[in-house]
Amino acid sequence: APHLLGIEHLGQDEITALIDLADRYAEDNRRGVAHRDVLAGLTQINMFFENSTRTQASFELAGQRLGADVMNMGIASSSVKKGETLIDTALTLNAMRPDLLVVRHPNSGAVDLLAQKVNCAVLNAGDGRHEHPTQALLDALTIRRAKVRLHRLSIAICGDIAHSRVARSNIMLLGKMENRVRLIAPPTLMPSGVADFGVEVFDDMREGLRDVDVVMMLRLQKERMDGGFIPSEREYFHRYGLDAEKLAHAKPDAIVMHPGPMNRGVEIDGTLADDINRSVIQEQVEMGVAVRMAAMDMLARNLREARKAGAVPA
Ligand code: CP
Repeated sequence: APHLLGIEHLGQDEITALIDLADRYAEDNRRGVAHRDVLAGLTQINMFFENSTRTQASFELAGQRLGADVMNMGIASSSVKKGETLIDTALTLNAMRPDLLVVRHPNSGAVDLLAQKVNCAVLNAGDGRHEHPTQALLDALTIRRAKVRLHRLSIAICGDIAHSRVARSNIMLLGKMENRVRLIAPPTLMPSGVADFGVEVFDDMREGLRDVDVVMMLRLQKERMDGGFIPSEREYFHRYGLDAEKLAHAKPDAIVMHPGPMNRGVEIDGTLADDINRSVIQEQVEMGVAVRMAAMDMLARNLREARKAGAVPA
């Protein structure tokens, strides 16, 4: 079956097609134009084994706006709590014949593994430190709407890169679209081997932000720092937190992004996050619904074709 497991598997044309379609959905969402026929008759199951506000809510809304029957698995009240494995849970749900399975899981690679066991389309809603493809797509759409293009831009991704699936998916997408990507992080939060991705690496915010078009901040992911070095929040904000003074080193029209959830006063100054002249954080959330509509629309079309051709059981 067709899946959306990572940006890794997408080419430039597929990324552009998804963003173009999402842009049209974004405009229709603003105008209140409904598209309830697109996923009519299809069943979407959302399985979130890790907390989420934005991704889960927007996948649910996206499915509803396209007319799917949407079911949210309540993991906390499910048999997962009795020790049922991911694969057994997936096979159980697969037997209920869903068409779209949206999965978030704390383990890198868990969603890929699950996709091999089911015969419906699987969308990765974030797996461990690996990928968060719809986040990168919604970030790309937000950037393109603000900057009118999605190539030859200078984009800084700042903060806890080592633990970030958002950074990983964005580095791949922005690189594939021929942008200049800079990573800014303390050495302890910079993954090794990033230079292989064709990015520039900095540990000083002011240096790294010089003349960039886009500043993408990341959350300090303490829950993934299992026993390792956790910086003090005050010290971290002083050196790596984005505020108006550090932002002044970027281009005067540089936009500020954050995937959320954000820690105000840790990686970003709260007043700057709310400054609608610089921050596109709320637009990112809005684009999240449109991108998920586009992704499910495309996968559903591919799924119908695969079923018609007999490649996937109907
Ligand atoms: N950006 C993002 O994935 O947010 P949630 O964890 O709230 O879904």
